[in-house]
Amino acid sequence: TISRQGTTMRLTALMLAAFSGTCLAQTTTVSSPDGQIKVTISDEQHTPSYEISFAGKQVIANSSLGLVFKQQPAMSEGYKISSQTTDSVKSSWEQPWGERQTVVDNHNEVAVTFKKPQPQGGTFTVRFRAFNDGVGFRYELPKQAGYDDVEITKELTEFAITDSSDATAWWIPARGWNRYEYVYNTTPLHKAALVHTPFTIKNKEGVHISIHEAALVDYAGMVLNQRRDGTFQADLTPWSDGVAVKKQGAFNTPWRTIQIGDEAVDLINSDIILNLNEPNKLGDVSWVKPGKYVGIWWGMHINENTWGSGKIHGATTANTKYYMDFAAKYGFDGVLVEGWNIGWDGDWFFNGDVFSFTQPYDDFDIEELTRYGKEKGVQLIGHHETSGNVTNYRNQMEDAFALYEKSNVSQVKTGYVADGGNIKRIDENGIVRKEWHDGQFMVNEYLHNVKLAAKHKISINTHEPVKDTGLRRTYPNWIAREGARGQEFNAWGTPPNPPEHIPMLAFTRMLAGPMDFTPGIFDMGFNGLGADTNRPQTTLAKQLALYVVMYSPIQMAADLPRNYLAKPDAFQFIQDVPTDWQQSIALQGEVGDYVVFARKERKRDQYSGNDWYLGAVTDEKARTLEVKLDFLDKGKKFEAQIYRDGDKAEWVNNPYDLKVEKRIVTADDKLTLKLATSGGTAIRFKAI
Ligand code: NOJ
Ligand code: CA
Repeated sequence: TISRQGTTMRLTALMLAAFSGTCLAQTTTVSSPDGQIKVTISDEQHTPSYEISFAGKQVIANSSLGLVFKQQPAMSEGYKISSQTTDSVKSSWEQPWGERQTVVDNHNEVAVTFKKPQPQGGTFTVRFRAFNDGVGFRYELPKQAGYDDVEITKELTEFAITDSSDATAWWIPARGWNRYEYVYNTTPLHKAALVHTPFTIKNKEGVHISIHEAALVDYAGMVLNQRRDGTFQADLTPWSDGVAVKKQGAFNTPWRTIQIGDEAVDLINSDIILNLNEPNKLGDVSWVKPGKYVGIWWGMHINENTWGSGKIHGATTANTKYYMDFAAKYGFDGVLVEGWNIGWDGDWFFNGDVFSFTQPYDDFDIEELTRYGKEKGVQLIGHHETSGNVTNYRNQMEDAFALYEKSNVSQVKTGYVADGGNIKRIDENGIVRKEWHDGQFMVNEYLHNVKLAAKHKISINTHEPVKDTGLRRTYPNWIAREGARGQEFNAWGTPPNPPEHIPMLAFTRMLAGPMDFTPGIFDMGFNGLGADTNRPQTTLAKQLALYVVMYSPIQMAADLPRNYLAKPDAFQFIQDVPTDWQQSIALQGEVGDYVVFARKERKRDQYSGNDWYLGAVTDEKARTLEVKLDFLDKGKKFEAQIYRDGDKAEWVNNPYDLKVEKRIVTADDKLTLKLATSGGTAIRFKAI
């Protein structure tokens, strides 16, 4: 049940006695409201440290805290606890859009201030919040003499996994050429070297843990470096000059987060990343609209069209009108158009310097399409591909958004295709610098883009982004990102996304926030079926289930219109499924194996808000799952419209075998789901 109390209890600040240089070591603790999670913070070791237990068993062993600076002495060794304050919060807040309308924030907090006893020592506070589903902590540095202008070279924060020799980890490599777009690895924990977050672990006891961060603002992204067996150190992605973070005056770091649960799905059902972000800073955001879209996109990925000009140019006025007609007829809100602007000719991956963000190709009449879209009730969705030259984009950004605002565009997909460490910028002195997608420079650049877009009432869907850390709470126009291998890899990736990819993303990448995966490929035979071609390695039913499993407030129907028209039964589900939810529950699953979600539609008008949806997906193994329907509203009847794998379905040679069935069900019923190899089930529970 959801607490509507909205109360915040402030407990009295508790000051520990000040003490001298020869003081005693001290520890302090904070526990989650249900008492299951306990954090112990101490100055007993040579550096400040913390450890965490869950249900009476240690899960994070003694782990160091601290920051290292280029000019100033490090804040770590020799620092002692000097004071602490505590707080308890039990409140809830509303999302303008999301997996659920109301988010509960229930935690206990301790903010521990460390000081170095010698006169020249500085001070810092580490604020810990213990929730029932995990822990967040961050460093807070007040303005203080000697530390006014700092360059952080290293963070000493550790995450030491208890009994690490028996733990399993799911991860992608960090600081690599392909940013975040890798096939996930499943390995013993000790094989994970330098990894991105969310970093998901299952320990010897079967406890699931995910390490990530929240509210990454004006700071370097954190990756994790296994320094000793089981001990991961925060590793901050540096600027091109080698410094990790540049800061002036007082500052707080992002929150380091550790989600903890008995079951894998507990990680998904946790809201701590959002709770650790600041409330909405944009005010009225009724102009941010969840929805569904189609677009001039997949045709380029399967080489039927080109982004650049020529005979098979995708972004023509005529083709866009064709898509607008299709969108209007089948209830889509927008049409994404890639390749509409000058700069795509030649090898566009390296064309960042020549992109214009205001000048269309001759065969793309933006004024006429704005008019046509208004007539049809369909919006153009904008596209800004930077090919990694962010200075060229920044110089045109204001004009680019102004043009789109004038053209009735309220959503722009951005792109930063460039290899990791190869984002090009021209600095203040005219010198070319190469930056990482997750360094402090780009963290700021992405947010600048989102804030400027907000001034034009435009929402942003970032491709080749920095990882999501829950900033959609603060900037609700940051509606989605890529930041993992999306559907595009099925067109041309080596290898395409394997059958386990979706149940893997659900417990890793998706813990960070919405992904614009672009589901719904109905024609898998564009290169021929079989196991060794480029194609979605799924059944058709699984493509439908993605709309429920892979949360995003904007969902694309990614395939070509003709492929939807050829399979009207399956296409009906895409027309029906909403993208904004009253409630979402991960019901069951195991990392990389399978996952089942139930979500209730959020109310938009008098006709909506009563239906539930279910999405289930499996990896290469066929499975039979029993699902209790006790999430449905009690005492109500629903027509279950079931889209499932047919009895002969299997992903390699028979992916299209789909059965659509209807049954009347209530909350007292159970359903048996039979998933084919790399199969799925999608259900609409229509309230009757
Ligand atoms: C990569 C993006 O992920 C994809 O969706 C887009 O079509 C291309 N870049 C071109 O911008
Ligand atoms: Ca991409």
